[in-house]
Amino acid sequence: MGARVLVEGVSKRYGGDPSTPRTEALHEVSFELLPGSFTALLGPSGCGKSTLLNLVGALDKPTSGRILVDGLDIVSRSEPERDTYRRRTAATIFQFFNLLSTMTVVENVSLPLLLDGVPPRRADDAARQTLTEVGLDEKLTAFPYQLSGGQMQRVAIARALVVNPALLLADEPTGNLDSRTGNQVLDLIEELVSARGLTVVMATHSEAAAARATRVLHLLDGRLVAAS
Ligand SMILES: Nc1ncnc2c1ncn2[C@@H]1O[C@H](COP(=O)(O)OP(=O)(O)OP(=O)(O)O)[C@@H](O)[C@H]1O
Ligand SMILES: [Mg+2]
Repeated sequence: MGARVLVEGVSKRYGGDPSTPRTEALHEVSFELLPGSFTALLGPSGCGKSTLLNLVGALDKPTSGRILVDGLDIVSRSEPERDTYRRRTAATIFQFFNLLSTMTVVENVSLPLLLDGVPPRRADDAARQTLTEVGLDEKLTAFPYQLSGGQMQRVAIARALVVNPALLLADEPTGNLDSRTGNQVLDLIEELVSARGLTVVMATHSEAAAARATRVLHLLDGRLVAAS
């Protein structure tokens, strides 16, 4: 089941100390994501997309504002609670996949479960099952360098999904793929939204990729300028 996310008046400033210039990366951003929705965050480089995903993923904290996930304010939670949220609720995939190069495909995907204390045998079974779901059951013992870009992103998606998250945060997931492969990754994300009822937010600067989402939030200079 997907999460309901409420972002209320969120601002984020970086720097401000003598060594770093002050940047207001986000200014009073508010929106709601319904459970099981697929939303694109569209805007040019530097507009604040990654900053916003990092805040929703609890990788960083806003300067002001609230972020409620299924009614709980993730900003004011304790660090152990934020850590559990990052491990179990909000999963992220990235433009450059971020797979561990010395581990096989199945090892990469079972890692989040092992870190969460799941016994190795069960973690391995769950990883294999999730990899089958993303169509990679023939690559279980391959290393990342032996895969195509699209296959690497599917491994990253499997690694995100293996913990059964309620929220998938995708930061330019097709940014490093050709358009055909990118479309296959978007097909997979679309399937996951409907099959698992996940809530998905995808940051992109591509209008074509954004058009695949059911809702588009336009971000410009840290401000939400329109929704469509
Ligand atoms: N850790 C940081 N310290 C200082 N400034 C930062 C930091 N991270 C981001 N910024 C600044 O905040 C603004 C928003 O950056 P962000 O990475 O969120 O943009 P983006 O929309 O994801 O861009 P891109 O499409 O290039 O990935 C930019 O001006 C950036 O320089
Ligand atoms: Mg970014």
